[in-house]
Amino acid sequence: MGRDTQTYLVGGVAAIGGFLFGFDTGLISSILEMDYWKSYFHNPGSVGVGVIVSLLTAGCFVGSLCAGWLADRYSRKKSIMAACVVFTLGAAIQCGSRNRAMLIIGRFIAGLGVGVLSMTVPVFQSEMSPSHIRGRLVSLQQWAITWGILVAFWIDYGCHFIKSDAAWRIPMGIQIVPAIILFVSMFFMPYSPRWLIDNDRFDEAQQVLARLRSGGDIYAPQVIEELEDIKEAVRVERETAVRSYAELLRFPIRRRIILGVVIQALQQLTGINVSMYFATSIFKQSGLSGDNAPLLAQGVNGVVNMLATIPAILWVDRWGRRKTLMLGSLGCGVTYFVQAVTTAATQRKTYDADGSLNLNIPHGPSYLIVVMMYLFVASFAMSWGPVAWIYPSEMFPMHIRSKANSITTAANWLLNFVIGLVSPILIKKITWGLDLIFAVIMFASIVIIYLFYPETKNRSLEDMEVIFTGSPWAHKDRKRIDEYDAARANQVDVDIKQSKVE
Ligand code: BGC
Repeated sequence: MGRDTQTYLVGGVAAIGGFLFGFDTGLISSILEMDYWKSYFHNPGSVGVGVIVSLLTAGCFVGSLCAGWLADRYSRKKSIMAACVVFTLGAAIQCGSRNRAMLIIGRFIAGLGVGVLSMTVPVFQSEMSPSHIRGRLVSLQQWAITWGILVAFWIDYGCHFIKSDAAWRIPMGIQIVPAIILFVSMFFMPYSPRWLIDNDRFDEAQQVLARLRSGGDIYAPQVIEELEDIKEAVRVERETAVRSYAELLRFPIRRRIILGVVIQALQQLTGINVSMYFATSIFKQSGLSGDNAPLLAQGVNGVVNMLATIPAILWVDRWGRRKTLMLGSLGCGVTYFVQAVTTAATQRKTYDADGSLNLNIPHGPSYLIVVMMYLFVASFAMSWGPVAWIYPSEMFPMHIRSKANSITTAANWLLNFVIGLVSPILIKKITWGLDLIFAVIMFASIVIIYLFYPETKNRSLEDMEVIFTGSPWAHKDRKRIDEYDAARANQVDVDIKQSKVE
């Protein structure tokens, strides 16, 4: 067994939370196009669809805001377990829905659970892991999200062949299975050692560290060393830190909060969830013909999303955060622009009897649009998908990390909510205009990242304090950080020489 096997196991189990997050995101897209679903809920119009899609994200917003307090008070482990119970309740209500109100309430309740998971899982993972695999472990959560979306798309695809209400009830109910698996597995997972130490449960923390780092030997040097390091960090934080939300608005944390909120908001403003929630309708509207073609195209979308996340997991630490985000924005912007131009040049709008819009785009251009959407999803998956979660999780000091991340995560869900609500209306009203809006946002985001976001790859937490307390103009602050690096390298040389003399 490798030395980090236990850590990967614990991080991997927690990532099932990401799977639930993704499953619920992916689930609704194809269900919206199922005839049995539409007739059961009396053909909801674009406002009705917006509400049904977005109530989940409204729940996620509330859930993520509560998670900061919950995870500090009752532990990361118990918060994850409680989220599974809430999620199961919400999924059961959705599965058994008898009317639109029940469906909407079910989605809101499931959202509360997903919101808590989306903030607690990365914090739990990062507190479990040694620093050399921390980034990768947090990325596992994003990969699990993409797997959840993928599996949901294909379950939807399989179920749409069923000729009864079971076509949509089965996918809604089946999400309970991973929630139960996560709940039961968490019984066997340890508490976060940092949370234990913060609650003066030192012996338990030592045992957890031994399980994670030394195959159970509580006296192993690396266990004692890490235990003492965390104890010391907690002691210093208790002396100096204010643990309230007010600290988030003051120097030196305020700048990081703004950067964290903006990076999470921009992740949603890539428009990724327009393609996750509504791609089936867009494919259909764009003229992809045949009964199964739009659903199938959505299934492929999920595969592209999952596969394109892998390079980021492997290499984001080498590429750096800034370059990855700027290149991702460029890819997203260009693909949106091509979609906008193609649609504008070829659309001929007509309306069906039920009011749904057809753009009647000829075959060639409609395939180009589908390919562009795949390239957009791939650009997102390699960049904004993982990095928007990694960046906030690494820039805050330990004592405020959970509260700060609950705010940045809530910003992500708020924008997700707004986009889910307004985009079905905009897709219908301004068609290619929406692509153009997203293209402009993506090009603007290149400038924002360039000007304001310092590079954080391969930096320790101690470095973060230096990096985020200089000029807010990231592109101008390089000299100061280079000087800091040089001074530190010199100091290391001096230390080495001194230890040789001694
Ligand atoms: C985003 C989700 C999105 C998913 C797509 C996540 O990072 O937060 O909103 O649906 O990526 O893979």
